[in-house]
Amino acid sequence: MIRAGVIGHPVSHSLSPRIHNRWFEETEIDGRYEAIDARPEDFVEAVRRAAGDGFVALNVTIPHKEKALEIADEASPSARAIGAANLLVFRDGKIFAENTDWCGFAEAVEREGGSLAGDTAVVLGAGGAAAGILYALQDFENVLLANRTRARAEALAGRFPNVTVVDWEKKLELGATESGLFVNTTSLGMAGYPTLGMILGDPGPAMVVDIVYAPMETKLIRAARKAGKPVANGLSMLVWQAVPSFEAFAGIPPKRPAATLADLEAEL
Ligand code: ATR
Repeated sequence: MIRAGVIGHPVSHSLSPRIHNRWFEETEIDGRYEAIDARPEDFVEAVRRAAGDGFVALNVTIPHKEKALEIADEASPSARAIGAANLLVFRDGKIFAENTDWCGFAEAVEREGGSLAGDTAVVLGAGGAAAGILYALQDFENVLLANRTRARAEALAGRFPNVTVVDWEKKLELGATESGLFVNTTSLGMAGYPTLGMILGDPGPAMVVDIVYAPMETKLIRAARKAGKPVANGLSMLVWQAVPSFEAFAGIPPKRPAATLADLEAEL
């Protein structure tokens, strides 16, 4: 039996076990995908225990993605460039770090008819999720990046040469700026946080992505839909990042990832 899972803290709300166990069933692979809750101080020990218990891979989620890269013996170029790993594969007694978060974002954009290249893209936020998204936006001429804490945005801009930092106070202007993509990677709009008050200009952004998925339709997504723009949210990114993860530990792709996404959208 293939054993895999997701390690995080907290992790009980994670949708990944539902996604992967369903794909194991659909592909008729004998596998089990579990959620492992580990506090930061227990992370390394928990990873080693999982490897010792026969897990072939672990997805890694908040708050362990940077640490996951640190403890790996080898890392993919994307995990290294992003500075974080959301997948650890155990092979030949070694830990390999991979990042499939940026693939999830890229796939979600392309599936909705958006483009990953062009003149200008806008990104709000410079936390853990932003680095993977900036990695996926390297074919844009210019990425305008605004974050409440400017120093974090500047640190990211130092790693990606096409990124220009814009004042957080100017974020409203960014909604009016003509761009190929407008991406919210902040927590604004998430249940329990203030909403992101954004007025989208005309033409403004060609497509809007909000990494939030609880609620599934944020105020930003609603405004974009109303303006007839294609959108993607955190749920589609989650499902599409799960596809290469599943391939890594199951050896074959899932059968119907789009159907899984549609079902989750209907259920949540
Ligand atoms: P993640 O890993 O999900 O990106 P994170 O690293 O905690 O989470 O980042 C959260 C992002 O949301 C950051 O860009 C954060 O801005 P700061 O760097 O200034 O903290 C942003 N954020 C969270 N709450 C916010 C708020 N009330 N107003 C503006 N930005 C906020």
